[in-house]
Amino acid sequence: MLRIGMLTSGGDCQALNAAMRGVYKSIMENAKEPVEFYGFLDGYKGLMYSRFRLLTAGDFKGLMTQGGTFLGTSRVPFKTIHEPDEEGHDKVAMMKQTYYKLQLDCLVMLGGNGSHKTANLLSEEGLNVVTLPKTIDNDLWGTDMTFGFQTAVDIATRAIDEIHTTAFSHGRVFIIEVMGHKVGWLPLNAGMAGGADIILLPEIPYDINKVIECIEERDARGDRFSIIAVAEGAISKKDAKLSKKEYKKKLAKSEFPSVSYEIAAEIQKATGREVRVTVPGHTQRGGQPCPYDRVFASRLGAEAGKLILKKQYGFMVGYKNREMVKVPLKEVAGRLKTIDPNAEIIKEAKMLGICFGD
Ligand code: F6P
Repeated sequence: MLRIGMLTSGGDCQALNAAMRGVYKSIMENAKEPVEFYGFLDGYKGLMYSRFRLLTAGDFKGLMTQGGTFLGTSRVPFKTIHEPDEEGHDKVAMMKQTYYKLQLDCLVMLGGNGSHKTANLLSEEGLNVVTLPKTIDNDLWGTDMTFGFQTAVDIATRAIDEIHTTAFSHGRVFIIEVMGHKVGWLPLNAGMAGGADIILLPEIPYDINKVIECIEERDARGDRFSIIAVAEGAISKKDAKLSKKEYKKKLAKSEFPSVSYEIAAEIQKATGREVRVTVPGHTQRGGQPCPYDRVFASRLGAEAGKLILKKQYGFMVGYKNREMVKVPLKEVAGRLKTIDPNAEIIKEAKMLGICFGD
C-alpha cells in the first residue's frame, strides 16, 4: 500500500487543482500497488491538527477548469513555525505526528516561497516530501516558471488593456497596480503585454522625477495619455536607501494605501495632470487557469508522480531551460528568484521606449 498526503499552502492561484489532478492521475495510472490519497485541509494547518479527507476518484473530476484549491489553503508563516500554537503545542511535532499516524509514504506540498521553507524543514526532519511550484509571483528559485503565473499575466494584462480606452477618452495618466509581492515578474510581463509606457519594479528602484519627465515627454509629443504598470512592491530610490525597519515604519505612517497612490499624488502635484489608480488585486489570483497553466500544472503533477513512484524524495519539481527538473528542497528554501536589472528583457523593453524610472 502506498499512502500519499497532499496539501496546498500559502496564497492560492490558478491550476492548483489541475496540478493535484496530475499527481493523482499519474500515480493511479502507474502504481503497481494499492494507493490511498489523503488531502489535508487548509494547508499545513490540516497536517498539524490532523484535519484531512481520504480522497477518491470523484474528488479529482472536473478540476481542470477550476481555480482555487478544493482542499483549501492558509498561510502559516515560517517565522512562527517554531513558536508553539495557541494551546502551547509544538507545530512541527504535530505535523510529524499526523504523518506517522497515517503511515504516509510521502507528503506532496503545492506552495510558494514561505511554504517551501516549511517543506524543507519537514524533509530535514525525516519526512518524505515532494513539492510543486505554485505562485502567481513566479519568484521561486530553481524554476523558470511557476504555475498560476501565466494566468495572472493574462488577467493583469486584460486589466491594463481595458484602461487604454478610458485613459484616451479623458487624456489621463493611469496607474495599474500589479501583484507580485517583492518581485516584478508579473508587472513586467503584464506591463509589456499591455503596452504600458512606464513600468516600475521592486528590482529597479525609481526616481519619481524620471517618471514625471517621461510623462511630460509623452505630453510634448502629443500623446493624450500615459499608462504606468506599478508593481505592488515598487520602491523609490530614496526609500531603497532606508533600512528594512525604517521603510516598514514609513509605510506604517503613510497616508497612502499603497505605493501606487503615493506615485499618483506626486505626479498629479508635479504635472497638474489627472491621475487615476486601478488595483485589480486578487482578481489576478482568481478564476479559471489558462490553457498554458493547465498543461504546465498537469506536467508538473505527472513529474511529481514519477518521483514518488521512484521513491525519490526531498525535491521540488521545476522547469529549467525548457526541461522538467528536480531541485533539492534545501536549494529552493529561502531563496527568491528576482529580475536582474541588466537582463535582456529589461534592455529590450528599454529599446522599445518603456521607462523604468531609473
Ligand atoms: O504570493 C501571492 C500573492 O498574491 C502576492 O502577489 C500578494 O502580495 C500576496 O499574495 C497577497 O496575499 P494575501 O492573499 O494574503 O492578501
